[in-house]
Formats: sequence, structure tokens, C-alpha cells
Amino acid sequence: MSSPSMSLFYSASSPFVRKVMVLLHETGQLDRVALESVQLSPIAPSADVNAGNPAGKLPALRLADGSVLHDSRVILDYLDRQHVGEPLIPLDGPARWRRLTLASLADAMLDAAVLIRYETFLRPEEKRWDAWQAAQQDKIERALAQLEAEAIAELTCHFDIAAIGVACALGYLDFRQPELNWRQRYSQLADWYADVSQRPSMQATQPPV
Ligand code: BEZ
Repeated sequence: MSSPSMSLFYSASSPFVRKVMVLLHETGQLDRVALESVQLSPIAPSADVNAGNPAGKLPALRLADGSVLHDSRVILDYLDRQHVGEPLIPLDGPARWRRLTLASLADAMLDAAVLIRYETFLRPEEKRWDAWQAAQQDKIERALAQLEAEAIAELTCHFDIAAIGVACALGYLDFRQPELNWRQRYSQLADWYADVSQRPSMQATQPPV
């Protein structure tokens, strides 16, 4: 086995990092990437991460030539072009734009859920804004409703960029909003997730308890 040529700024609890890890598992590229664990938050940045990604966010991927790729969408696109199997991001045609749009919807759920996490965990209680938090929660609910109504067949047919994104978003909701009980309202999504969450890639990348 050769030594890893790339390194990933990593946190086990970041759902955006999880997407990258799932793709590495699914495409057989785990050995190519060394993990550099970092602890950071919007108010406690990491100088190492900032040096590569001025936005200070995870994930960031340092390539063999020292250049750094970010954010997760760019990293996924890059890594999907580094293996010989079937691409997890369709290269062209209508499927490309549909799958990327579903992946973008999953990212929007994650953005909202992570902002809620920061609001409820980091922001002092007296500075919290209930209406803003409710509006973020509404985004998640609308996205879940649309996935349930329109995307189950598409998610079921291929565990690709769209399915990875949605699976990681649902996993993050379970992790940070266990009280949401989304399965009660979205039974098809729940059945689909029960199935894909058994994949070795999802099992190996579960957030910490
Ligand atoms: C979290 O612990 O919820 C988290 C960690 C890193 C990025 C986003 C969220």
C-alpha cells in the first residue's frame, strides 16, 4: 500500500466531512487520503484550516502539490474524477443537473441544521432569535417534504452524489435534532434511509455518540 498523497482537514461530527468520507469509501479511495483532525467552530477557528481555506470551514483537502480544495462540493467533484468506477456525479446530460440539484437541496438542509446547531449551542441564550431559527427549521421541513413527494425513486436507483448528500443530511438530523421525529411524517424517506444507512460507508462514518 502506498502512503496517502492527500490530506483531509477532518472532524467526525461534521456532516460535510461525512459526505467526503462516504464517497471515499464508496469509490475505494480511503488509502489515498490522510485525516488531519481539527477542532473548530465559527468562534474558535483553526489557523491551519484558515491557511488553506480563508473561510475557515471543513472539509478542506490538501493535494500532493500543496494546493487546497474546498468546499465539500468541489472536493466531491475532484475525488469522483480520481477513480475508475462509475462516476457518482454524472458527467453530463439532464441526470447531472438533476442529481446535483438534489445534492444541493441536501446541502441546504445541512446549512440550515448546522446554523440551528450554532444558534442553540454557541450563541448566548439572551441573543437568540426564535423567528430566525424557526425559518431555518422550515427550510428543512420543506426539503424533507419535497424529497418524500418527488425524489424517492431517484434516491433508490443509485447511491450517488444525491443519495450521499441526503443520507448525510438525515444522519445529521438524527445526530443533532433527535426530537424532530422526521420519520413520522416522511415514511418513504425513512424506509429508504433505513436501507442505505446499513451500507458499510454509512456505518463507518457515523457521527460520534
Ligand atoms: C457539529 O458538531 O454539529 C458540526 C461540526 C462541524 C461542522 C458542522 C457541524
